Amino acid sequence: MLSWDDYKEESTQSSASKGANTAPAVKQQAMQQEAVQPAPQAQPAIEEPAVSYQTKEPVATTETRATESKENKTVSDAVALAKQAIEDLDPAPGLEELEMGAARIEVDDKKMINCRADLNQLVPFKYDWAWQKYLDGCANHWMPQEVNMTADVAIWKSADGLTEDERKIVMRSLGYFSTADSLVANNLVLAIYRHITNPEARQYILRQAFEEAIHTHAYQYCIESLGMDEGEVFNMYREVPSVAKKAAWSIAHTAGISNPAFHTGTEEADRELLRNLIGFYVVTEGVFFYCGFTQILSMGRRNKMTGVAEQFQYILRDESMHLNFGIDVINQIKLENPKLWTEDFKAEVKQMVLEGTELEIAYARDTMPRGVLGMNAAMMEEYLHFIANRRLAQLGLGEAYPGAQNPFPWMSEIMDLRKEKNFFETRVIEYQTGGALSWE
Ligand SMILES: [Fe+2]
Ligand SMILES: [Fe+2]
Repeated sequence: MLSWDDYKEESTQSSASKGANTAPAVKQQAMQQEAVQPAPQAQPAIEEPAVSYQTKEPVATTETRATESKENKTVSDAVALAKQAIEDLDPAPGLEELEMGAARIEVDDKKMINCRADLNQLVPFKYDWAWQKYLDGCANHWMPQEVNMTADVAIWKSADGLTEDERKIVMRSLGYFSTADSLVANNLVLAIYRHITNPEARQYILRQAFEEAIHTHAYQYCIESLGMDEGEVFNMYREVPSVAKKAAWSIAHTAGISNPAFHTGTEEADRELLRNLIGFYVVTEGVFFYCGFTQILSMGRRNKMTGVAEQFQYILRDESMHLNFGIDVINQIKLENPKLWTEDFKAEVKQMVLEGTELEIAYARDTMPRGVLGMNAAMMEEYLHFIANRRLAQLGLGEAYPGAQNPFPWMSEIMDLRKEKNFFETRVIEYQTGGALSWE
């Protein structure tokens, strides 16, 4: 990794090579040499037309002249075409047809979907919460390489470092998440982004897309550090049923809106977008991630695989913000388009959350055939019922599992940790120190 000193050295070298920092005596000497040396031959302002792709040398002067004149004509035609194209260029910006000189964008022109106003004007903000989440996401920035993985490598390679059940949990988590974050990122940039017509919300989506790339990077960093079989880990979503079913459920919810022919604007299409947002933000990021996160963080609390656990801690913090952003977007769309939120659709959404919960319970049973790390599949089931109730409440729907309790209150503690302090106390890098990075 580059240190601050490397940057300084690099910048000094490059300045010196440009002569910016040359000592006056040396400069003077250079000027004197220049004065006595003959001036270099003037270079042609325009290079000869490139002919290196020709297989034969020009054989006759008349032919060469004919070629040159043809090329000159082609160039002058191209310049004329370029001039014409610029003349004809419609200066209306944005994706939608805009009227030149129309009134400036007012807050009330902005809408979460189907907005006809200019999408390139970030301000005035209508959804301050979206901009604030973008700022919070930036303030929580982190990179996988900053986490020390030395203890993890030692414990992973030692014969009695982890039990078989614990090893399975690490493998399954990396297998599921390495694919899931990629599915989420693809859905964001290939499907959701196009249909959310609000610039401050899009700003957060761009930040989230980068965070998903960091998460995929983090899993790869763990897999590489531990020397795992990459083929086995990355193919788990096609080979291990409890992982494959979750991935398949998410993928099925991308299909509708990622089609280039798909456009919002009808009740049916707008509801399809909501289905996608709920499938990804509420179920994939809000339910499917919780068994794996809890298992790995529980491992970290027991002082095992602390590097992997630290990576997951930062990811969980990001994910809880993704979830909250998604819930706010969904509720905003409901508010602006109340006719979408019919009784039938509410029942369908509830069903989606329950399907996700069932899939996650099946994953818990598969990864915990018996008690491990102070938990078991039955406790995880209770926790997932508790999580599902919360998701339904966040969408304004009634609970599905009355009385479900949270058997892992320490998970909320980790999620509520703000900013840079590490739950496992192994990393103290702060990104926000008066706007400057501090390298430790
Ligand atoms: Fe992620
Ligand atoms: Fe996410």
